[in-house]
Amino acid sequence: MVLRRREFLASLASAALPRLRAGSTPRPTLDPASLAPFRTSLPIPPLARPVGERPSPLDPKVSLPLYRLPIREFRAKVHPDLPPTRLWGYDGASPGPTITARSGDGLFVEWANELPEAHFLPVDHTLHGAEVGQPGGRAVVHVHGGRVPPESDGYPEDFWLPGQSKTYFYPNGQDAATLWYHDHTMGINRLNIYAGLFGLYIVRDAAEEALGLPRGSEEIPLVLCDRSFTPDGQLDYPAAPDGKAPWVPEVFGNTMLINGVLSPYLDVEPRTYRFRILNASNGRFLHLSLSTGDALTQIASDQGLLGAAVPLKLLTLAPGERADVLVDFSRLGGARPTLKNDIGEILQFRVGAGTSTSFSVPSPRALERIPESSAVRTRLLTLEEYTNFVGHSMTMLLNGAHWTQPVTEKPLLGTTEVWSLINLTDDSHPIHLHLVRFQILDRRRFEPFTFQTTGVLKYTGPPVPPEANEAGWKDTAAAHPGMVTRIIVPFLGFPGRYVWHCHILEHEDNEMMRPFEILRPEAAPTP
Ligand code: C2O
Ligand code: CU
Ligand code: CU
Repeated sequence: MVLRRREFLASLASAALPRLRAGSTPRPTLDPASLAPFRTSLPIPPLARPVGERPSPLDPKVSLPLYRLPIREFRAKVHPDLPPTRLWGYDGASPGPTITARSGDGLFVEWANELPEAHFLPVDHTLHGAEVGQPGGRAVVHVHGGRVPPESDGYPEDFWLPGQSKTYFYPNGQDAATLWYHDHTMGINRLNIYAGLFGLYIVRDAAEEALGLPRGSEEIPLVLCDRSFTPDGQLDYPAAPDGKAPWVPEVFGNTMLINGVLSPYLDVEPRTYRFRILNASNGRFLHLSLSTGDALTQIASDQGLLGAAVPLKLLTLAPGERADVLVDFSRLGGARPTLKNDIGEILQFRVGAGTSTSFSVPSPRALERIPESSAVRTRLLTLEEYTNFVGHSMTMLLNGAHWTQPVTEKPLLGTTEVWSLINLTDDSHPIHLHLVRFQILDRRRFEPFTFQTTGVLKYTGPPVPPEANEAGWKDTAAAHPGMVTRIIVPFLGFPGRYVWHCHILEHEDNEMMRPFEILRPEAAPTP
């Protein structure tokens, strides 16, 4: 018998109320309404500064900057009324320092693990990679959206232990885009990221600069992640009632951290601002809007500029996705509009009364659509969920395979493939591929029952093109329930082993992640 996910969640919710922490007594969750809003000015993550230089692996006569980011536990105040919160971060900050790169100019980062030996969030030792005996303070860093050689990509099993460090090379051979770095450790990724292990990685280039977009104090990063807290201001990560298997299928916090604080305000001038928005939540899809009813004008998605700006009353961002938006405050001098999400007003803008300046949104540019005919093959790949009655838990799989099974996706370097993501579950799963950028071809309703019983894809609706704000280059795409989502992927970059996975971190940690391997053309099996 297979329980559908909703039934399973309902049974879990009733069993888990009040919220339990593994093996301890019920603990109440902080009511965010008890905190006075808009009392802290929005912090801007510091910029990472190089500490030295190293010869380029591509040309030893060229020196490239070396950064060093220690991974550490620290405490920080997320709200003036709360005591400091225990967090894990890069260089004592969460979000960590923002790394900025020029397209084509490589850099090195030494990631130094200075974490404690034990985790402070509920590790589930029944998950693959998190078995009893593995030290808690494992870490490995991945640059999400980066075109990075495999040995520097942060393979989930290549973690390093407290006291160890690794230096990774980032060539940055890619277009301007808002990327981000975060932990990727097998089996505890959801906990490491919930603890605070993420930061921004911004790639700039001349094509983007030629647009004259708002810069400096008018270009603001917004790193959003939902969290719940205990009344004493500590991170509250839920645990299933079975203390031996505390994994939960999803986590939805009741409040939102923006650049590491709750309910901040931002002083702005009556001009147009560029916001680089990242959804760093474990499982929450964001639905952002402005209290004025004005549009957020999206100009870029995960992998850079869109073909045309898209005005949006409501901006949906799945976990892992990014959006660059322009917001025009020129007619709002003296006003205090807010940015809203489903869980309320999360950021207040305090618009100054100075002279207003207008800005014209850049006009459309050519964005090449990859022709479907360029694909050398189509892979049908299922998204599935199973309930395990042992351990009161469930498993999510990609194409019916566990992490440890042999690699099945082996595209050839330089070729283009279509991946048809066949969602047999009741939920949207944001699917992310490392190394590559891709485009969404379409989404189409189909009959899951026919597919499961006969393997035949029977469509029940017309193909739906991607939303206008998804019509550019992506690295993460929501695969909706009951639909086949087709993405077209040029496998460019480097040969070697990477991963693809659902970016709902609880799913990723419980088998919804698979390796894929890019083969050198000469290593292709002869037909
Ligand atoms: Cu955001 Cu595998 O990563
Ligand atoms: Cu990634
Ligand atoms: Cu998922």
